[in-house]
Amino acid sequence: MPATKVKRALTTISSQEEAAEPQPSCGQERSCPAPPAPGAGEGRDEAPGRREGRGAAPMAKPAVTAQDLALKQREISVSEFFTKNRHLLGFDNPSRALLATVKEAVDNSLDACQEAHVLPEIFVEVRQIEENRFRVIVEDNGPGIVRQQIPKIFGKLLYGSKFHTLKQSRGQQGIGISAAGMYGQLTTGKPVAITSCSRPGRPAHAYEIQLDTERNQPIVLKEAEVEWKGGRCGTRVEIELEGRYQKGRHSVDAYLQQTALANPHVEITYVPPKGEAVRFERQVESLPPDPKEIRPHPYGVELGVLQGMLKAARGQRLSTFLCTAFSRVSRRTADEICSRAGLKPESRVHLLALEEVERLFKAIGATRILAPPTNCLSPIGEEVILRSLRGQIRADFYSARTRAPVVYRGNPFLVEVGLAYGGELPAEEPITLYRFANRVPLLFQQSACAITDAVLRIDWKSYGLAQPRGSLPIGPAAVLVHVASVWVPFTSESKEAIADYEEIVREIRLALQECGRQMGRFVQRRRREAEAERKRSYIEKYIPHIGEALQEILGLPAQRRASIEENLKDMLERSRS
Ligand SMILES: Nc1ncnc2c1ncn2[C@@H]1O[C@H](COP(=O)(O)OP(=O)(O)OP(=O)(O)O)[C@@H](O)[C@H]1O
Ligand SMILES: [Mg+2]
Repeated sequence: MPATKVKRALTTISSQEEAAEPQPSCGQERSCPAPPAPGAGEGRDEAPGRREGRGAAPMAKPAVTAQDLALKQREISVSEFFTKNRHLLGFDNPSRALLATVKEAVDNSLDACQEAHVLPEIFVEVRQIEENRFRVIVEDNGPGIVRQQIPKIFGKLLYGSKFHTLKQSRGQQGIGISAAGMYGQLTTGKPVAITSCSRPGRPAHAYEIQLDTERNQPIVLKEAEVEWKGGRCGTRVEIELEGRYQKGRHSVDAYLQQTALANPHVEITYVPPKGEAVRFERQVESLPPDPKEIRPHPYGVELGVLQGMLKAARGQRLSTFLCTAFSRVSRRTADEICSRAGLKPESRVHLLALEEVERLFKAIGATRILAPPTNCLSPIGEEVILRSLRGQIRADFYSARTRAPVVYRGNPFLVEVGLAYGGELPAEEPITLYRFANRVPLLFQQSACAITDAVLRIDWKSYGLAQPRGSLPIGPAAVLVHVASVWVPFTSESKEAIADYEEIVREIRLALQECGRQMGRFVQRRRREAEAERKRSYIEKYIPHIGEALQEILGLPAQRRASIEENLKDMLERSRS
């Protein structure tokens, strides 16, 4: 309903209510407000029904009545909410907004390519238009987007294909790209331009879309068919926005470099606002394992959710419901749950009373059920992590560990760690920590992240690194931590830090310890070798003096002295090996 109509309707309701409900005067059952402060309410109209009765004490006029409030009470659309709270989505300042826009578009491109089993080729351009205005262009060779879906995807918050799907993907909320478009629109007034081809060899559909923030609905400004080169599918997104381009840890450059690190099957061409184009070459020619969609695991379901699921499955028998709604529930397990709950397997699910649902919930928790399937995850893999680290970091030692999948709140997840030590890494600075969630680099909120928490809880001294209290260890090392899950528990909608789930922190710690122990052994061996080398060069320095002394004491000829020195060097070499 348009705002004016809502207002009119509410005014009618409020005046009707007031007419129907006479206001009590002092002395009736309701409490009487304190007398007005001198001057209060002077010169203001009194609300209807609030005039003093004959002989009654004067009544204070409340600052605001429920009816006044009712006039203001209205629905808030999700896009209005995020317009005011854009910081929750990572758009709180111009440099962060620029990075978030690139990130949302690139993450979508990588997800789309993964789903379509296509080796991704991504083109990213950040074009400077004015001092603080940029045009972000991201093009992929993914499956494209069906024409009818384009307006909703780019012009409606909370619309996507991944929220209801339980499998590892970069996006999960259905808010990323439309939020980026909305930020662009707010700061420049320009629409998002999308060109997408979803059938090879056919024309692409080009759109210009704005978001009606009051209704959270798309407004299509332009629609046309255009040529799409290359004879394959793909999508090109262009967003103009107010931003600031910067280099360093929180830059677009760092994000793309780290994306290439965790996605070595990707090829990225990046045209920055200044300077030469950069190319991140593909390091592996095969796609990562394709994650499969799974059903929720019974252990992860909460009572209220179970109640909703039972209602939605109206008419189903209980045992059929348990087998089809959840993963890892066989007929036998379903019967076991039913008998533990004292419910008949053939009872109709929507007829269960709350108390019966509670029994069912408890019975699920008390029944042994297989852990959820783990083919919903797509780890990077130890070998690929090592290759990726070697490709980007010059070090003396590398190690990697992929842990077996486990579960938090019924959601499968796994942890991977890669570690590089020595070489060109700075020895006097804190280690470089690369955090990833579902292969996406996390560049902000390092201190609020479960990964950092786990790193801080390790005793790095025993692995050869210095460790000031409460901060990252110091030494020539870089650590990569990847958490992959069907649902990464981010601390906010901007998806920058992982929440401190005990199970997740524990897995990260174990993986770090495994790599840390290998690094510790390497550091020890290197120290021993350095010590031996020091002794050797010390002795080597004195061999000519020993030769000279022997020659003098024993009166040896010069030739004999030379052969003694040779023998001594030989002995030294042998003792070393
Ligand atoms: N380049 C693309 N190619 C194909 N489909 C895309 C592309 N970009 C977006 N989509 C589709 O649009 C949907 C919405 O994207 P959006 O980024 O808003 O949300 P999401 O990726 O599902 O989740 P998140 O908010 O966590 O990023 C996606 O779920 C996907 O189905
Ligand atoms: Mg997304």
